[in-house]
Amino acid sequence: MSTTGWGNFWQDQRLSFYAVMKMATSYFVSEFEKLYPLQPTDQLFDYGCGPGFVADSLATRIIQLTGADINDFFIKECRKNHPASRFLLITTDTATNKKILGEALNGKHFDYILLLSIIQYFKSANDLDEVIGMLRHYLKPQGKLIIADVLDENTSSLKDAFSLLMYCIKRGRIGAFAGFISYLLFSDYRKISKQNKLLLVSENTIRAIATRLGLHCEKVNGLTLQRSRSNYILSHTR
Ligand SMILES: C[S@@+](CC[C@H](N)C(=O)[O-])C[C@H]1O[C@@H](n2cnc3c(N)ncnc32)[C@H](O)[C@@H]1O
Repeated sequence: MSTTGWGNFWQDQRLSFYAVMKMATSYFVSEFEKLYPLQPTDQLFDYGCGPGFVADSLATRIIQLTGADINDFFIKECRKNHPASRFLLITTDTATNKKILGEALNGKHFDYILLLSIIQYFKSANDLDEVIGMLRHYLKPQGKLIIADVLDENTSSLKDAFSLLMYCIKRGRIGAFAGFISYLLFSDYRKISKQNKLLLVSENTIRAIATRLGLHCEKVNGLTLQRSRSNYILSHTR
């Protein structure tokens, strides 16, 4: 996997659109927990963990969390805020990441591996194939690999913005929504997104990757705030 404009963008990010990202992540965690009530012994790997919003949302319930991200600043924040969990600095290159994870995880296996709101920043579906191919080795036999907030041909920015707006209104967080929209319109994010389209990954592509890697694939609705995005649960076939 090569570094793209998005890889460079995320490696340099600091505290942008935190409020909405945190809200969206906490929504995901509550929906995810309805589907899979987490046990204190569960091991969770948050791949592309960002500043640690999944860890924040689960802080009172689970401590068996490992995170990984390409952004050094985010990893430092995660380590500072969640000293009992482990956070790994990875790269945009899968071959390098295989070595990093191989050394750091040393045969560890997870009940859940999350790829939440990250694959739209990959360069191609081939990168996703490589990452799933790498991560499946860290899944327990009954483990689930969750790919959430996936953009595809049915994704509509307008519908997504509307669902976010409704949620922010209900929560009295209209300021967060306004901050998010102004960030999208006036920051580097807009410049980068003009040069590097977010990656759309169709259901057929995800299913084909899963089949090739010998994984079962289930599509799940409603895991994320942005209603026109898709979510998939991959698991070992028995
Ligand atoms: C929108 S944020 C989502 C953060 C977190 N998953 C959440 O939902 O709260 C996208 C994250 O993906 C990370 N990321 C981008 N490209 C990546 C890659 N190739 N491998 C791993 N992480 C990546 C970014 O550094 C950033 O933290």
